Amino acid sequence: MPIFKKDKKQKNKSQEESDKSLQLINNCEIGEGTKIWNFVNIYGCEIGRNSMVGCFCEIQKGVRIGDRTRIQSHTFICELVEIGSDCFIGHGVMFINDVYPPQPDPSEWRKTVIEDGASIGSNATILPVRIGKGAVIGAGAVVTKDVPAGAVVAGNPASFMRYRNDGKGE
Ligand SMILES: CC(C)(COP(=O)(O)OP(=O)(O)OC[C@H]1O[C@@H](n2cnc3c(N)ncnc32)[C@H](O)[C@@H]1OP(=O)(O)O)[C@@H](O)C(=O)NCCC(=O)NCCS
Repeated sequence: MPIFKKDKKQKNKSQEESDKSLQLINNCEIGEGTKIWNFVNIYGCEIGRNSMVGCFCEIQKGVRIGDRTRIQSHTFICELVEIGSDCFIGHGVMFINDVYPPQPDPSEWRKTVIEDGASIGSNATILPVRIGKGAVIGAGAVVTKDVPAGAVVAGNPASFMRYRNDGKGE
């Protein structure tokens, strides 16, 4: 015996309603085709077209994210982070701008740049660095230094494994 009655029309209607009531989105510029899932807290940021932000993400003010970039659930993106287009940011990725917390003076915070096509594995921690085009960051990595384009790094602290060989880092 089915537990839920299948009524597609009703389900779609309530889904649309819950999307709005379960999201905190303030002063953001969000491009056409970008999907934001429920239980997010995003404010003062810019997200391009056809991107995606998963559940339970926080994105702070001043963050800029390009087109077709996927931010998976449970990720925290702080101020001073810039993420390009066609990036993949895995689940539970933590960005850092305050290296010696708590530092109340924002002029002491440092920025992070993620170039186009980079892919960051689940549960990685990204200190203020530049991650080059198409670089791959392993799951659970703690990235403390800049990563060259096309490099694959992993571990704590993240270290170089190899260059990817599919041409995506060029
Ligand atoms: C980093 C990564 C890309 C490497 O993949 P790969 O080149 O196929 O590497 P391999 O599986 O051949 O492993 C090579 C070595 O690195 C180690 N390694 C692999 N991934 C690692 C990681 N994330 N952290 C630490 N070490 C890792 C392996 O244990 C292996 O070590 P060994 O040579 O001592 O046996 C991949 O393991 C990874 O972490 N991908 C991210 C996945 C992810 O988070 N997806 C999110 C969506 S579900």
